[in-house]
Amino acid sequence: MNRFQKKRVFITGAGSGLGRALALSFARLGWKIGVAEIDPERTRQTSEEVNQAGGEALAIPCDVTRPENLEKAAATILDQWGGIDIVINNAGVSGCGLMEEIDLERWEWIFNINLRSVIYGCRSFIPMMKKQGHGHIVNVASYLGFVSSPESSCYNVTKAGVISLSETLRIELAKSNIGVSVVMPSFFKTNLMDQLYAAGERQEKLVRALFEKANFSSEKVAQCILKGITANRFYILPQWDAKIIWLIKRFSPELFLRLFSFIYKKSLVEKFFRLKL
Ligand SMILES: NC(=O)c1ccc[n+]([C@@H]2O[C@H](COP(=O)([O-])OP(=O)(O)OC[C@H]3O[C@@H](n4cnc5c(N)ncnc54)[C@H](O)[C@@H]3O)[C@@H](O)[C@H]2O)c1
Repeated sequence: MNRFQKKRVFITGAGSGLGRALALSFARLGWKIGVAEIDPERTRQTSEEVNQAGGEALAIPCDVTRPENLEKAAATILDQWGGIDIVINNAGVSGCGLMEEIDLERWEWIFNINLRSVIYGCRSFIPMMKKQGHGHIVNVASYLGFVSSPESSCYNVTKAGVISLSETLRIELAKSNIGVSVVMPSFFKTNLMDQLYAAGERQEKLVRALFEKANFSSEKVAQCILKGITANRFYILPQWDAKIIWLIKRFSPELFLRLFSFIYKKSLVEKFFRLKL
């Protein structure tokens, strides 16, 4: 982290789960943290915890679906801190359902929060980073962005979009000395299920049950992200299951699709976890 002398980070969705864990990890290292969050109580709570943990919080009420909110956040940060070192586009929600059963309004909802927000975040901060001659962007996707699991197309598509955008930016911004990382975790414990959209009862039970089985914490994911930034690594895969699936897909995308279609047809995930749906 020595390359970030001024220690200034902006995090969206910082009021809960991974965003909060990241904010506290940076706080323990004495960073200034822009706590961007839609929920005022969560913003207040995390900001207080950041200050107690040794950081300096700047509470930024922010709905990431509104580009003007992110532009204003960037302007505030420039005004108060004179620049930014790391931007973490983390805010997100989850959704599942059979393709034909997902409402079009819900496609819009999840696109806005999970994908367009990342576009807005990058657009708002890249000019500042280019001007100052350095910076690092972290976009939080999910392993579902490359697993493409059935019955969660709306979520998968947004996360695949985040991976693609991040890959593009990693190359495009290399000559401007701006690093980019994309995080692709599998399930870990947070409040993500509070805002779960499910088009059907079966998918809701399945996703909630898989989420319940998760034994990885947001603190551990945050630590992996900090290590990844330090090493200027692009792909950050915190958990072993995501790493194994990633390797299979890279080794043979065709084999991967056959294997996962077989697993789906035989309901092997439900059988493995002994889920009664
Ligand atoms: N928890 C998991 O299993 C998991 C797995 C893979 C990826 N992710 C990703 O991690 C990221 C963080 O999610 P989490 O698991 O910590 O969930 P979380 O629900 O605990 O935290 C998300 C935060 O984002 C905020 N938020 C939601 N909509 C917003 C908006 N429009 N503007 C600003 N803030 C908004 C919420 O209020 C909440 O505080 C998400 O992008 C999610 O897709 C989570």
